[in-house]
Amino acid sequence: MTNWLGDFPALRQQLVGLEILPEIGSTNDVLKSEALGDYTAALTDHQTAGRGRMGRTWVSAPGAGLAFSLLAPATSPTQQSWLSLVAGASVAAAVRAHGVVSAELKWPNDVLVAERKLSGILCEVRPDGRVIVGIGVNIDCLRGVQPIEEATSLAEFGEVSHQSIDDLLATVVSSLRQFLETPAPEALALAKGSVQKVLATTGREVSVHDLDGTMWSGVALALTDDGHLVVRDSVTRRERIVVASDVRHLRQ
Ligand code: BTN
Repeated sequence: MTNWLGDFPALRQQLVGLEILPEIGSTNDVLKSEALGDYTAALTDHQTAGRGRMGRTWVSAPGAGLAFSLLAPATSPTQQSWLSLVAGASVAAAVRAHGVVSAELKWPNDVLVAERKLSGILCEVRPDGRVIVGIGVNIDCLRGVQPIEEATSLAEFGEVSHQSIDDLLATVVSSLRQFLETPAPEALALAKGSVQKVLATTGREVSVHDLDGTMWSGVALALTDDGHLVVRDSVTRRERIVVASDVRHLRQ
């Protein structure tokens, strides 16, 4: 496989600053410093202590995964509540443009191909209200580690080059900037439109894994104006709003 790290000229055009690190614990942590400007970013192909949603870790062998974090400006509460979904939708759309046409979004922000995970997002809000958008993309699962059955990577779908990753990240950041820089009322319509284009969860039977360990199932019906998932509980037949749980697509 080609080494895909390089200088990222297209991505740099979308950013105020980009730090490329040979190795780092978590790219999200690099953006915690107070002095950094909006649209500063950090990137590595060797993240040693990556974090995932719900206290999970995000691990990949050196060179096998891309870890990218972007410091987004403080926005309206609506934009903040949709940011992580829009980030996932932007990655799914960019991956489709990269040739993986069946990439789709699982609520809230996993990018899947044939139900196998290609990318995950972890957004963390800083004390100053700005948000660190952390994006992990599997580049080559076969590099250095045993392939994980539930995971997939870009290399399975064709040649990965420095230019293709540069274009992919530049497209993602450009979509995020468009969303963040749109006035709040129109931003909601923009978010709903971009998410609906790639979302595979609504209309599906899902299991919901709550933070306290309980699990229930139902049919995912729609998204609320805050980006939360409306699910009809298969036992009570009542509609429940899922805010922060883990959701799995059940085979139909
Ligand atoms: C998940 O699927 O649970 C989210 C994974 C998010 C991983 C990315 S990699 C870049 C950024 N740095 C981190 O420590 N986590 C995110």
